[in-house]
Amino acid sequence: MQLHGALHREGVVGIVSHRGAAAIAPENTLTAMRVAFEQDVEFVETDVQVTADGVPILMHDPTLDRTTSGSGPVAAHTLAEIQALDAGSWFGPEFAGERVPTLEEFVAVLEPTTTRALVELKGVWQPEQVASLVEFLRSHYLVNRVALQSFELPTLEMLRETAPEFARVMLTREWDQAAVDQAVALQVSAVGARTKLFDRRPELVEQMRPLGIGTLVYTLNKERRWQQAAEAGMDLVVTDDPVSLADWQGR
Ligand code: G3P
Repeated sequence: MQLHGALHREGVVGIVSHRGAAAIAPENTLTAMRVAFEQDVEFVETDVQVTADGVPILMHDPTLDRTTSGSGPVAAHTLAEIQALDAGSWFGPEFAGERVPTLEEFVAVLEPTTTRALVELKGVWQPEQVASLVEFLRSHYLVNRVALQSFELPTLEMLRETAPEFARVMLTREWDQAAVDQAVALQVSAVGARTKLFDRRPELVEQMRPLGIGTLVYTLNKERRWQQAAEAGMDLVVTDDPVSLADWQGR
Protein backbone atom coordinates (compact mmCIF):
# COMPACT_ATOMS: atom_id res chain seq x y z
CA MET A 1 0.00 0.00 0.00
CA GLN A 2 1.42 3.36 -1.01
CA LEU A 3 0.46 6.21 1.30
CA HIS A 4 1.75 8.83 -1.07
CA GLY A 5 -0.31 9.33 -4.21
CA ALA A 6 -3.02 6.81 -3.41
CA LEU A 7 -4.33 8.92 -0.56
CA HIS A 8 -3.42 12.37 -1.77
CA ARG A 9 -6.74 13.49 -3.19
CA GLU A 10 -6.14 16.48 -5.48
CA GLY A 11 -4.47 18.67 -2.89
CA VAL A 12 -6.64 17.43 -0.02
CA VAL A 13 -4.58 16.05 2.83
CA GLY A 14 -5.50 12.65 4.20
CA ILE A 15 -6.87 12.65 7.75
CA VAL A 16 -5.46 10.44 10.51
CA SER A 17 -7.57 10.22 13.66
CA HIS A 18 -5.07 10.34 16.54
CA ARG A 19 -5.30 7.43 19.06
CA GLY A 20 -8.85 6.76 17.88
CA ALA A 21 -11.29 9.58 18.46
CA ALA A 22 -9.16 10.81 21.35
CA ALA A 23 -11.03 14.11 21.72
CA ILE A 24 -14.34 12.32 22.21
CA ALA A 25 -13.54 9.12 24.10
CA PRO A 26 -10.58 7.81 26.14
CA GLU A 27 -7.68 7.32 23.73
CA ASN A 28 -6.89 3.86 22.41
CA THR A 29 -10.01 2.22 23.88
CA LEU A 30 -12.51 0.26 21.81
CA THR A 31 -15.07 3.02 22.35
CA ALA A 32 -12.63 5.55 20.90
CA MET A 33 -12.01 3.22 17.97
CA ARG A 34 -15.70 2.62 17.26
CA VAL A 35 -16.30 6.39 17.16
CA ALA A 36 -13.23 6.91 14.95
CA PHE A 37 -14.34 4.24 12.47
CA GLU A 38 -17.54 6.25 11.93
CA GLN A 39 -15.55 9.36 10.97
CA ASP A 40 -14.59 10.28 7.41
CA VAL A 41 -10.86 9.66 7.78
CA GLU A 42 -8.19 7.85 5.80
CA PHE A 43 -6.57 6.26 8.86
CA VAL A 44 -7.31 5.64 12.51
CA GLU A 45 -4.03 5.79 14.42
CA THR A 46 -3.22 3.66 17.45
CA ASP A 47 -0.24 2.59 19.55
CA VAL A 48 0.75 -0.97 20.39
CA GLN A 49 2.97 -2.31 23.17
CA VAL A 50 3.60 -5.79 24.47
CA THR A 51 2.60 -6.93 27.97
CA ALA A 52 4.88 -8.91 30.32
CA ASP A 53 3.28 -12.12 29.03
CA GLY A 54 3.78 -11.15 25.38
CA VAL A 55 0.35 -9.87 24.32
CA PRO A 56 0.12 -6.78 22.09
CA ILE A 57 -2.23 -4.17 23.59
CA LEU A 58 -3.29 -0.63 22.66
CA MET A 59 -1.45 1.85 24.88
CA HIS A 60 0.47 5.03 24.16
CA ASP A 61 2.51 5.73 27.29
CA PRO A 62 5.26 3.40 28.57
CA THR A 63 3.54 3.45 31.96
CA LEU A 64 -0.04 2.76 33.05
CA ASP A 65 -0.33 5.87 35.20
CA ARG A 66 -1.93 8.50 32.92
CA THR A 67 -4.65 6.49 31.18
CA THR A 68 -5.55 3.74 33.63
CA SER A 69 -6.25 3.18 37.32
CA GLY A 70 -2.91 1.33 37.57
CA SER A 71 0.69 2.43 37.78
CA GLY A 72 4.14 1.36 36.69
CA PRO A 73 5.59 0.16 33.40
CA VAL A 74 3.27 -1.51 30.90
CA ALA A 75 5.95 -4.12 30.15
CA ALA A 76 6.05 -5.19 33.81
CA HIS A 77 2.36 -6.20 33.89
CA THR A 78 0.52 -9.19 32.47
CA LEU A 79 -2.53 -8.88 30.24
CA ALA A 80 -4.80 -10.06 33.07
CA GLU A 81 -3.41 -7.37 35.39
CA ILE A 82 -3.81 -4.65 32.76
CA GLN A 83 -7.29 -5.69 31.70
CA ALA A 84 -8.43 -5.56 35.33
CA LEU A 85 -7.75 -1.80 35.30
CA ASP A 86 -10.15 1.05 34.51
CA ALA A 87 -9.01 2.81 31.32
CA GLY A 88 -11.93 5.24 31.04
CA SER A 89 -12.56 7.10 34.30
CA TRP A 90 -9.55 9.41 33.85
CA PHE A 91 -11.33 10.81 30.76
CA GLY A 92 -14.81 11.07 32.23
CA PRO A 93 -17.08 9.19 34.67
CA GLU A 94 -19.30 8.02 31.79
CA PHE A 95 -16.37 5.94 30.53
CA ALA A 96 -15.79 4.10 33.82
CA GLY A 97 -15.13 0.41 33.25
CA GLU A 98 -13.52 0.87 29.83
CA ARG A 99 -10.68 -1.64 29.44
CA VAL A 100 -7.31 -1.57 27.70
CA PRO A 101 -7.92 -3.53 24.48
CA THR A 102 -5.66 -6.13 22.94
CA LEU A 103 -4.58 -5.74 19.33
CA GLU A 104 -6.77 -8.72 18.56
CA GLU A 105 -9.83 -6.97 20.02
CA PHE A 106 -8.96 -3.85 18.00
CA VAL A 107 -8.72 -5.87 14.77
CA ALA A 108 -12.11 -7.46 15.46
CA VAL A 109 -13.62 -3.95 15.55
CA LEU A 110 -11.60 -2.76 12.54
CA GLU A 111 -12.39 -5.70 10.25
CA PRO A 112 -16.07 -4.95 9.51
CA THR A 113 -15.25 -1.32 8.60
CA THR A 114 -13.63 0.15 5.50
CA THR A 115 -11.21 2.36 7.45
CA ARG A 116 -7.46 1.80 7.47
CA ALA A 117 -5.40 1.67 10.63
CA LEU A 118 -2.02 3.24 11.27
CA VAL A 119 -0.40 1.19 14.02
CA GLU A 120 2.63 2.50 15.90
CA LEU A 121 4.93 -0.06 17.48
CA LYS A 122 5.93 1.66 20.71
CA GLY A 123 9.06 0.96 22.71
CA VAL A 124 11.42 -1.94 22.19
CA TRP A 125 10.20 -4.92 20.17
CA GLN A 126 11.97 -8.27 19.94
CA PRO A 127 12.29 -9.84 16.46
CA GLU A 128 9.89 -12.69 17.35
CA GLN A 129 7.31 -10.18 18.63
CA VAL A 130 7.48 -8.20 15.38
CA ALA A 131 7.26 -11.40 13.34
CA SER A 132 4.24 -12.56 15.34
CA LEU A 133 2.45 -9.20 14.94
CA VAL A 134 3.04 -9.21 11.17
CA GLU A 135 1.89 -12.82 10.85
CA PHE A 136 -1.26 -12.00 12.81
CA LEU A 137 -2.09 -9.06 10.50
CA ARG A 138 -1.33 -11.14 7.43
CA SER A 139 -3.55 -13.99 8.63
CA HIS A 140 -6.39 -11.46 8.89
CA TYR A 141 -5.74 -10.24 5.31
CA LEU A 142 -4.95 -6.73 6.55
CA VAL A 143 -2.03 -5.93 4.25
CA ASN A 144 -4.03 -3.21 2.49
CA ARG A 145 -5.80 -2.05 5.63
CA VAL A 146 -2.97 -1.55 8.13
CA ALA A 147 0.13 0.63 7.91
CA LEU A 148 2.90 0.26 10.49
CA GLN A 149 5.00 3.03 12.01
CA SER A 150 7.78 3.48 14.53
CA PHE A 151 10.37 5.93 15.80
CA GLU A 152 12.79 3.05 16.48
CA LEU A 153 15.37 2.19 13.83
CA PRO A 154 15.74 -1.50 14.86
CA THR A 155 11.95 -1.93 14.66
CA LEU A 156 11.80 -0.26 11.25
CA GLU A 157 14.62 -2.50 10.03
CA MET A 158 12.77 -5.59 11.29
CA LEU A 159 9.60 -4.40 9.54
CA ARG A 160 11.47 -3.87 6.27
CA GLU A 161 12.51 -7.53 6.43
CA THR A 162 9.35 -9.13 7.81
CA ALA A 163 6.61 -6.85 6.44
CA PRO A 164 7.84 -5.52 3.08
CA GLU A 165 4.33 -5.59 1.60
CA PHE A 166 2.86 -3.38 4.35
CA ALA A 167 2.99 0.42 4.13
CA ARG A 168 5.50 1.59 6.71
CA VAL A 169 6.11 5.06 8.15
CA MET A 170 9.40 6.19 9.63
CA LEU A 171 8.67 8.57 12.49
CA THR A 172 11.55 10.93 13.13
CA ARG A 173 12.66 13.72 15.47
CA GLU A 174 15.48 14.75 13.12
CA TRP A 175 14.98 16.14 9.65
CA ASP A 176 18.17 16.30 7.65
CA GLN A 177 19.82 14.54 4.72
CA ALA A 178 20.65 11.57 6.97
CA ALA A 179 16.94 11.13 7.77
CA VAL A 180 16.05 11.16 4.07
CA ASP A 181 18.79 8.62 3.35
CA GLN A 182 17.49 6.46 6.19
CA ALA A 183 13.92 6.60 4.84
CA VAL A 184 15.19 5.50 1.44
CA ALA A 185 17.23 2.66 2.97
CA LEU A 186 14.23 1.53 5.04
CA GLN A 187 12.01 1.55 1.92
CA VAL A 188 9.22 3.29 3.83
CA SER A 189 6.09 4.76 2.25
CA ALA A 190 6.26 7.96 4.28
CA VAL A 191 8.19 9.91 6.87
CA GLY A 192 6.29 11.26 9.88
CA ALA A 193 7.39 14.29 11.89
CA ARG A 194 6.23 17.39 13.67
CA THR A 195 5.31 19.98 11.07
CA LYS A 196 8.03 22.40 12.26
CA LEU A 197 10.71 19.94 11.16
CA PHE A 198 9.44 19.68 7.59
CA ASP A 199 9.02 23.49 7.46
CA ARG A 200 12.70 23.96 8.21
CA ARG A 201 13.94 21.91 5.25
CA PRO A 202 11.18 21.80 2.58
CA GLU A 203 13.73 20.94 -0.10
CA LEU A 204 14.22 17.56 1.58
CA VAL A 205 10.48 16.87 1.28
CA GLU A 206 10.74 17.70 -2.43
CA GLN A 207 13.69 15.34 -2.72
CA MET A 208 11.57 12.46 -1.38
CA ARG A 209 8.56 12.98 -3.65
CA PRO A 210 10.01 11.49 -6.85
CA LEU A 211 11.11 8.51 -4.75
CA GLY A 212 7.47 7.89 -3.81
CA ILE A 213 8.03 8.70 -0.13
CA GLY A 214 5.17 10.71 1.36
CA THR A 215 4.82 12.89 4.45
CA LEU A 216 2.76 12.60 7.61
CA VAL A 217 2.60 15.50 10.09
CA TYR A 218 1.40 15.43 13.69
CA THR A 219 -0.55 16.54 15.67
CA LEU A 220 -2.43 19.47 14.06
CA ASN A 221 -5.69 20.70 15.60
CA LYS A 222 -6.11 24.23 14.23
CA GLU A 223 -7.33 25.52 10.86
CA ARG A 224 -4.22 27.63 10.39
CA ARG A 225 -2.08 24.49 10.77
CA TRP A 226 -4.27 22.45 8.40
CA GLN A 227 -3.98 25.23 5.82
CA GLN A 228 -0.20 25.23 6.13
CA ALA A 229 -0.04 21.46 5.79
CA ALA A 230 -2.27 21.54 2.70
CA GLU A 231 -0.21 24.33 1.14
CA ALA A 232 3.01 22.45 1.84
CA GLY A 233 1.55 19.39 0.07
CA MET A 234 1.65 17.10 3.10
CA ASP A 235 -0.01 13.73 2.47
CA LEU A 236 -1.42 12.88 5.88
CA VAL A 237 -2.31 15.03 8.88
CA VAL A 238 -2.68 13.46 12.31
CA THR A 239 -5.34 15.28 14.32
CA ASP A 240 -7.34 14.96 17.53
CA ASP A 241 -10.23 16.69 15.76
CA PRO A 242 -10.91 14.83 12.50
CA VAL A 243 -14.53 15.96 12.35
CA SER A 244 -13.57 19.66 12.21
CA LEU A 245 -10.78 18.94 9.72
CA ALA A 246 -13.18 17.06 7.43
CA ASP A 247 -15.71 19.94 7.74
CA TRP A 248 -13.00 22.46 6.98
CA GLN A 249 -12.10 20.48 3.87
CA GLY A 250 -15.76 20.51 2.86
CA ARG A 251 -16.02 16.73 2.70
O1 G3P B 1 1.31 9.35 13.98
C1 G3P B 1 2.38 9.87 14.68
C2 G3P B 1 1.99 10.44 16.00
O2 G3P B 1 0.86 9.80 16.49
C3 G3P B 1 3.10 10.34 16.97
O3 G3P B 1 2.74 11.00 18.13
O4 G3P B 1 2.67 11.21 20.53
O5 G3P B 1 0.86 9.97 19.43
O6 G3P B 1 3.10 8.96 19.56
P1 G3P B 1 2.32 10.25 19.47
